[in-house]
Amino acid sequence: MATVLAFTNQKGGVGKTTSAVNVALSLAVTEVRTLLIDLDPQSNATTGLSDLFEKTNGSIYDILLKGDGFKDAITKTSFSHLDLVASTNDLVGAEIELVSIMAREYQLQKAIKKIRKDYDIIIIDCPPSLGLLTLNALTASDALVIPIQCEYYALEGLGQLLNTVRLVQRHLNKNLEIAGILMTMYDSRLNLSKQVVEEVDGFFKDKLFKTYIHRNVRLSEAPSFGKPALLYDANSTGARNYMSLTEEILQRVS
Ligand SMILES: Nc1ncnc2c1ncn2[C@@H]1O[C@H](COP(=O)(O)OP(=O)(O)OP(=O)(O)O)[C@@H](O)[C@H]1O
Ligand SMILES: [Mg+2]
Repeated sequence: MATVLAFTNQKGGVGKTTSAVNVALSLAVTEVRTLLIDLDPQSNATTGLSDLFEKTNGSIYDILLKGDGFKDAITKTSFSHLDLVASTNDLVGAEIELVSIMAREYQLQKAIKKIRKDYDIIIIDCPPSLGLLTLNALTASDALVIPIQCEYYALEGLGQLLNTVRLVQRHLNKNLEIAGILMTMYDSRLNLSKQVVEEVDGFFKDKLFKTYIHRNVRLSEAPSFGKPALLYDANSTGARNYMSLTEEILQRVS
């Protein structure tokens, strides 16, 4: 039975997609059966993997709004242990269209139930908002990975996220946990990076992953080639950081 992990933070540009895509591939190369669900209308996870498939087969919109099963919406990749559910532009309207659906927060959870046995880990890349798409992800997940960028205002909005997590635990999914807090775009030359880590460490203690993702240009170049960093430059700091994070995640969730 798969563990479902959502990469979430309503703050934009903190490294959710980069982390989801690179962890998904690192899991797949270690032969963990992995499904990556792109739940963001921006479709960055889908394009970030586009070198690994010919064309997409259905989308997460079809599952959430048309009632299609996952089986009809899974895109196989060139890695036998990695499947993708793509996102398309239609998903922009989903936040509004979901409002009128019964049990609207449970659509993703319901659909995932039927395919949980086919995977070891299911990763959800969330959009930068706390709307119904993210609520669906939190309701469907066992645990959250929360990326935090080593920047000024890194902790801004985190209270709102934690509050939403508590509400979801109380009303929609009592089993939801925080798998870990992930420091991204860490720059060891900057005092600021160290300060932000200290602040987050003081607050989250052992929830903080020991692996920090360093600022690494290979991580930002790889998506334009439609591939994760491990396939673009396997020796890059970025690729190595994500392999080490993946080991930590496996220790925490299995
Ligand atoms: N460790 C890193 N080093 C250098 N660049 C990075 C790193 N992580 C992410 N980036 C770049 O920063 C930008 C934002 O990252 P990403 O798209 O992963 O964030 P996000 O949280 O998914 O954004 P959004 O909220 O828009 O979905 C991208 O251009 C990405 O390539
Ligand atoms: Mg993203």
